[in-house]
Amino acid sequence: MVEHDAFGATREAYDAAAPLYAQMFRGELRDRPLDRAMLSVFAEAVGESGNGRVADLGCGPGHVTAHLAESGLAAFGVDASPAMIGLARGAYPGLRFDVGSMAALGIADGVLGGVLSRWSVIHTPPQELPVVLGEFHRVLAPGGHLLIGFSASDDPSHPTQVFDHAVAPAYRWWPDHLAVMLRTSGLAEVARMVREPRPTDRRQFREIHLLARKAG
Ligand SMILES: C[S@@+](CC[C@H](N)C(=O)[O-])C[C@H]1O[C@@H](n2cnc3c(N)ncnc32)[C@H](O)[C@@H]1O
Repeated sequence: MVEHDAFGATREAYDAAAPLYAQMFRGELRDRPLDRAMLSVFAEAVGESGNGRVADLGCGPGHVTAHLAESGLAAFGVDASPAMIGLARGAYPGLRFDVGSMAALGIADGVLGGVLSRWSVIHTPPQELPVVLGEFHRVLAPGGHLLIGFSASDDPSHPTQVFDHAVAPAYRWWPDHLAVMLRTSGLAEVARMVREPRPTDRRQFREIHLLARKAG
């Protein structure tokens, strides 16, 4: 019931915020060379596996899905919010976007070379995170890669911190804590990028991109 309520609340909040979110963030990668670098590392790792099928989970308005597709990957997006999916389909008509839940993906076992989750697990309540990470692991092929982006907690003694997000309740994670949760789910850390906040950033949190791999 808690899971359902959190999911429904997040979906409704992003439905209401979708046009403004798309307007604010669609061009953001232009100003984020470090994010682009990690997406490029991810794309290369996935490409090397020979399976370029990648899901962008919690894809929002689809701009990062499109960036991955431009890198040569067979990328598609999934999001809880029908309004976000509508905007993504409108902006990128050549790509596939589906409404869905990261906790119960309509994707077969072991078929993806990569999963991207960029600032989508921030809305997953801590008690639900193992289910979501289990889904990421389930849909990846052996040797497949996960790139997960999230905001970092400041305090290892509080590995999960609630933060005041403009759209929906959100959590930030101590990076080592999340890395252990990934490992427990069968996803071993390969590398991580820690980006210090810039003075102009709306939120003064460290941002983490963590690349992990499913054994195989
Ligand atoms: C902060 S936005 C990030 C959007 C995009 N990944 C980006 O990098 O701009 C979070 C997105 O995750 C989606 N989301 C959150 N929880 C989800 C869930 N359990 N299943 C599917 N999508 C979810 C929201 O609807 C929203 O579009």
